[in-house]
Amino acid sequence: MTDASTQPMLGSGLEIRPFAPDDVAEALRLSQQVGWPHRSEDWALALAVSEGVVAFDGTRIVGTACCSRFGTVALINMIIVDEAMRGRGLGRRLMAAVMDFARGSEMRLVATLEGLPLYEKLGFRATHRIFQHQGIAQTATPELPVRVGSVPDVVRLAEMDHAASGLDRRALLQRIAAQGEVLLAERGFALLRDFGRGRVIGPVVARDAAAARSLIAEGMLRNAGTFLRIDLPEAAGLSDFVTTLGLAHVGDGTAMVRDPGPRPAGDITTYALASQALG
Ligand SMILES: CC(C)(COP(=O)(O)OP(=O)(O)OC[C@H]1O[C@@H](n2cnc3c(N)ncnc32)[C@H](O)[C@@H]1OP(=O)(O)O)[C@@H](O)C(=O)NCCC(=O)NCCS
Repeated sequence: MTDASTQPMLGSGLEIRPFAPDDVAEALRLSQQVGWPHRSEDWALALAVSEGVVAFDGTRIVGTACCSRFGTVALINMIIVDEAMRGRGLGRRLMAAVMDFARGSEMRLVATLEGLPLYEKLGFRATHRIFQHQGIAQTATPELPVRVGSVPDVVRLAEMDHAASGLDRRALLQRIAAQGEVLLAERGFALLRDFGRGRVIGPVVARDAAAARSLIAEGMLRNAGTFLRIDLPEAAGLSDFVTTLGLAHVGDGTAMVRDPGPRPAGDITTYALASQALG
C-alpha cells in the first residue's frame, strides 16, 4: 500500500465513467498487475451480469469497480486501483460509484487483506472466511451417483441456489452452464467452467455434505490432470476433503456484508462459490 500521506489527492482530471466493452483489455492489465488469474473471458462473464465503472486518467484506465445485482442482494466486485494511484482516495470513489448502483439492496463482497480496511470504513462487516483451493485434480470416486445435466435444468437449479444463497442469479447460472458443465446429484448440483489458469468448480449447492462431496469428486474425475480451483465458505467444511483430492489451500478471502436482509432459512447450503466475485 502506498503511504497516503506522501501522495497528492486526486485531481479533477480523473474521470469515473461507465465500464464500456472496449475497457476489458485495460481492466485485464489491472487484474494481472494484482496477480489475479482472470482472462478476458472471465471479465466478460462478470460484466455480462454487472454494472461497472472505470477510472480514466486521460490516457489509461487506473481503476475498476463492478456491482452485480442478483435480486435483493448486490455483490460488489472487481475493485482494483492501479498500484501507482493507491492511497489517494480513488478506491473510496470507485466504491461510492458502485454502491450507488446497489442502493437499497443488501451488499456483499469478498475482501482481500488490502481491501478490508476500506470496506470496514464503508460500513461492511466480516461474516466468514472463504478458503481458496487449487491444484492439479486427481481422480476421485463419488460416494453417491452423479449424472450430467444441461442448460434447461438451470431453472430448477437456480431456485435451489436462491434458497441457499438468497441470490437470484438464474441468468448467470445459465451462462455458466452454456459454456461449461452441469453435474446433478439427487440432493444437489455443481457447475464447472473454464476460468483463469484452468477450470473452476462452483457453485456447488446441496442439501447435505455427502452430495456436495460426490459432486466435487465427479468434477475431479472428469477433469483429472487439469488445473482446478474451488472457493469454499469456511462453514461448509470441505477444505480437508478437497486437500486430500490434490487441491491445496492457497489463500483466504473475507466475506463481508452491509445492510443485511433476512438470511435464507432451510436445509440447502452453498458448499462452493461460483467465484469470489460472483458469490
Ligand atoms: C483495495 C484498494 C482498491 C484500495 O484502493 P485505494 O485507492 O488505495 O484506497 P483509498 O485511497 O481510497 O483508501 C480508502 C480508505 O481506506 C483506507 N485504507 C486503504 N488501505 C488501507 C490499509 N492497508 N490500511 C489501513 N487503511 C487503509 C484509507 O486510509 C482510506 O481511508 P479514508 O478515506 O478514511 O482516508 C487497492 O489497494 C487495490 O487495488 N488493491 C489491490 C486489489 C485488491 O485487493 N482489491 C480489493 C478486492 S476485494
